[in-house]
Amino acid sequence: MSNYHIKHLEEYYQVYRKSVQEPEKFWEEIAEEHFLWQKRWDEVLSWDFAKPEIKWFDGAELNITENCIDRHLATRSDKTAILFEPNDPNDPTEHITYKQLHERVNKMANVLKSQGISKGDRVCIYLPMIPELAISILACARIGAIHSVIFAGFSATAIASRVNDSDCKLVITSDGSYRGAKTIDLKGIVDEALESCPGVHTSLVVKRINSDVSMKAGRDKWLQPLLDEASNTCEIEIMKAEDPLFILYTSGSTGQPKGMVHTTAGYMVYTAYSFKNVFQYKENDVYWCTADIGWITGHSYIVYGPLLNGATTVMFEGVPSYPDFGRFWDIVQKHKVTQFYTAPTAIRALARQGTELVNEYDLSSLKVLGSVGEPINEEAWHWYNDNVGKNKSPIVDTWWQTETGGIMITPIPFVTPTKPTYATLPFIGIQPTLMSESGEELMDNQVEGKLCIKFPWPSMARTIWANHKRYEETYFSTYKNKYFTGDGALRDEVGYYRITGRVDDVIIVSGHNLGTAPIEDAINEHPAVAESAVVGFPHEVKGNALYGYVTLKDTGESRNQENLQKEINQIITEHIGPIAKLDKIQFTDGLPKTRSGKIMRRILRKIASKDTGDLGDTSTLQNPEIVKDIMDNVV
Ligand code: WTA
Repeated sequence: MSNYHIKHLEEYYQVYRKSVQEPEKFWEEIAEEHFLWQKRWDEVLSWDFAKPEIKWFDGAELNITENCIDRHLATRSDKTAILFEPNDPNDPTEHITYKQLHERVNKMANVLKSQGISKGDRVCIYLPMIPELAISILACARIGAIHSVIFAGFSATAIASRVNDSDCKLVITSDGSYRGAKTIDLKGIVDEALESCPGVHTSLVVKRINSDVSMKAGRDKWLQPLLDEASNTCEIEIMKAEDPLFILYTSGSTGQPKGMVHTTAGYMVYTAYSFKNVFQYKENDVYWCTADIGWITGHSYIVYGPLLNGATTVMFEGVPSYPDFGRFWDIVQKHKVTQFYTAPTAIRALARQGTELVNEYDLSSLKVLGSVGEPINEEAWHWYNDNVGKNKSPIVDTWWQTETGGIMITPIPFVTPTKPTYATLPFIGIQPTLMSESGEELMDNQVEGKLCIKFPWPSMARTIWANHKRYEETYFSTYKNKYFTGDGALRDEVGYYRITGRVDDVIIVSGHNLGTAPIEDAINEHPAVAESAVVGFPHEVKGNALYGYVTLKDTGESRNQENLQKEINQIITEHIGPIAKLDKIQFTDGLPKTRSGKIMRRILRKIASKDTGDLGDTSTLQNPEIVKDIMDNVV
């Protein structure tokens, strides 16, 4: 029996049992057989969720890029590692072989060194989906610098707060990016951000769109001339198992985004193992995940997981609608993609186009389809299954989080029978549980509760950068000795899980996590605004969209509401980015509040969702009369 590659359901149960009964032994075998180590570990696992402190493979030494690249050179040096599909379908595809990747990563690593970056330094990467993004990530890992990728849709303010939080010394960006028919001035956004980032001494600029950007003397440097000069060999930095590999920010229900810290060895073992099994990856498959590397999905399942397995991973620069809504299918046909991993919001947008385009292309290469980022509704699931998978490619509905580093609940294709809208069974080594409102563990099937994980897994985030207390409070204080996910779920009669959505103030819009607090803070910056509350409401394509309730300061003047709406969305765009714009804004004289002054979001959510049949108990409000007023004026 090969624990590394599960092939049928009975084997899944066997391997799963072993992974929870003897987790140390199980993961030790995987780690031993499938990776290169510079030094072996002293202890497979030590953990204490009360502290919380989790260590996997402590004492071991390694470099993840040796595992992603160097060790494949003997057998796969001319195999394509990264298949880059540019925004414009008329531009040539770029095939970067393992050998070329090795050289380019080494050169980039040497450039970083020449700019004074060394082990433990933080490097911010703000790039579009071009090969330099993956190469920069790997170059950081090669020299032990901690990468902090910021999705290239975030605003200058959002970049600055992240760069300062983790005290990045250097930023890698580009002169701009292509997005369908548009170009975006990334350099300008970074320049604005860096005005308030005194710790950044260097900005390396990739030339992508040949735009006329200004370069600040002493700080900004074109990357290519430095690469041209750099040597193509670079020794790996020897890293400890628990040395940080990267920081990735995710929204919390309150306050600033959380810089989740992932460490080296456990992350490597788990992303490699889960990639192999969840996508039933086989040599010579062409794997494509449509996510942006700015999110965890891209880190784990475009870069690290596939490269650790010596796979060919597609990187797509563009958008699904350019030059038309057939682009995804065109890419699948052109490169004979075997695994296709996308988000429900993309599926819904494509489904809206009907079936004509999807039927125009040859999708027969596809073997496995994946979904991630938010619950997939039944209609989208069937559209995907019927029209893309042609009822023969299983859909893996993968539930996981930035914090979990890797896929946690998922079917294994051709192994676990799928069920629409269900993420189904825990992946190997994962021990989920559901908790009742009163904090009891729900042991039966056919129950609904708050989703927690009872036992550590190798790729869990170890802390929040510079804020371990927040890590403890957010994830380990709600339920004793359990990691709390922030999601609700139900478990059916056979033990399948269905994720029902966030139970906190995080809203998932088009698969992007957004905290309500920072959006409200941005709205409240508007001089006319007294107070605001943001909630989610169901949206046909985005899954959820944002609804803002805004009260204005009483200045006696009348204000043009249309202009105000535009101004509010402009402020949100500046503070966070266009993804956080409100779809609907309702101006109201007040917000429903409890006697202690807390906004009753539950009621606002129901009103925004037009689900006002049962608003629950409103008698504890200090201003119950406002509820009717809000309902009468709902947008
Ligand atoms: C949601 C993305 C239902 C969930 C990898 C989680 C999902 C949050 C699914 C994490 C799924 C992710 N079904 N909900 N298959 N996958 N989610 O950190 O609410 O960007 O907590 O990680 O997305 O989003 P994040």
